[in-house]
Amino acid sequence: MDTDVRGQYEAYPYPPRDPADEAKRLITGSPSNIVEIEHYVFGRKLAADQPFRALVAGGGTGDATIMLASQLAARGLMAEITHIDISGASLEIARARAAARKLDSINFIQASLNDLTELGLEKFDYIDCCGVLHHLPEPAAGLHSLVAALRPKGGIGLMLYGRLGRTGVYEAQDLLRLIADDLPDAERVETARALLDDLPPTNWLKRNSHIGDHHNAGDAGIYDLLLHRQDRAYSVAEIFALAADAELEITGFIEPARYDPLNYLEDAALRQKAASLPWPQRCATAELIAGNLKVHICYLVNSGRGGDIPRRPQSQMAVPVLNNVSPEALAGRLKGAPAISLDFDGAKIRLPLPKLAAEISAQINGERNLAEIRRRLAKAGHRLSASAFARQFEVLYKALNGINALLLR
Ligand SMILES: C[S@@+](CC[C@H](N)C(=O)[O-])C[C@H]1O[C@@H](n2cnc3c(N)ncnc32)[C@H](O)[C@@H]1O
Repeated sequence: MDTDVRGQYEAYPYPPRDPADEAKRLITGSPSNIVEIEHYVFGRKLAADQPFRALVAGGGTGDATIMLASQLAARGLMAEITHIDISGASLEIARARAAARKLDSINFIQASLNDLTELGLEKFDYIDCCGVLHHLPEPAAGLHSLVAALRPKGGIGLMLYGRLGRTGVYEAQDLLRLIADDLPDAERVETARALLDDLPPTNWLKRNSHIGDHHNAGDAGIYDLLLHRQDRAYSVAEIFALAADAELEITGFIEPARYDPLNYLEDAALRQKAASLPWPQRCATAELIAGNLKVHICYLVNSGRGGDIPRRPQSQMAVPVLNNVSPEALAGRLKGAPAISLDFDGAKIRLPLPKLAAEISAQINGERNLAEIRRRLAKAGHRLSASAFARQFEVLYKALNGINALLLR
């Protein structure tokens, strides 16, 4: 086990969380939202007749564990969740958050994810590993350890730092190693803070306006960004290689629209070239064009299983599910709009919408399949042939799935 890293997370549990806040809000995000797990790992609704076994590896102060346990409980699904972390201080916070929510489906263990085999746990349907592998001395070995703990039809939700989007971070880390490495931790944090205030506008960290989130995250945030002893970042191409090395297949990145070069390019010849690339190269191209992907969130399944996961709505039996938005709110927002226009951290994106975007969205309740939605549209006076409906839905799906607002079961 890397004792420097463990010492850091004992002193500075990350992200900082107050269990009392559980009474006020549920933190949700990616990976490990169950709607995403259903789409990207299983391609179907989670089964209700057996407990869903999840491992949160390097679960820290509990964000994914609490979200997953709460979402499963809200659905009335049986769950067995194991949260492991090397930091006892982080585990204490996660445990207190679970207690505040009266969640009793979670088993907390202080251990390294490298030692999973020795723990002798029953295998898991799903493993969350968010912001952890890039802090291991050997990330590939860590991923192998997770794969060994996974059921053959299970999957993994991963978050790794993005190399290009973190431009400036590693140079600032080098700088702090030169001027503050021998100081006690509290003084290293003070030095980092002073440095942040003193850097000229030409410095690459200063120039990277998208790295703003840690500045306000207190000492733990400063430490995590600038003083980490074990920290690397990945390009998209490196993540595909890491996955292949562990005999895993990537089923999707969140949000998909960020990983499509066509969303950034206007030149017809460039678009044609980008469109002709296989999916991994398209994703890699999008990262190099956008330059602003600070993290990569993706889902992985055992190699050969990717075909079970719907990349597009191919069947009328598919059930569309909205993520974090109600049908009414979505339909209201899409009414009459030719496209969704948004700002992805400075990159302006335009996602075209079909004519009946609002009408179709209003029918998506997470239960109806596409055939039923088409029937209901017809009753409301919008008669479409099966192929015309499929074409409209495909355009809507591309836009909304692109921003992680629409998934399939
Ligand atoms: C940046 S935090 C992320 C926490 C959490 N996954 C989240 O996204 O909120 C990294 C966590 O990984 C834990 N960690 C680092 N190395 C580990 C290892 N070998 N085994 C288990 N946990 C580890 C740290 O203690 C820390 O809590």
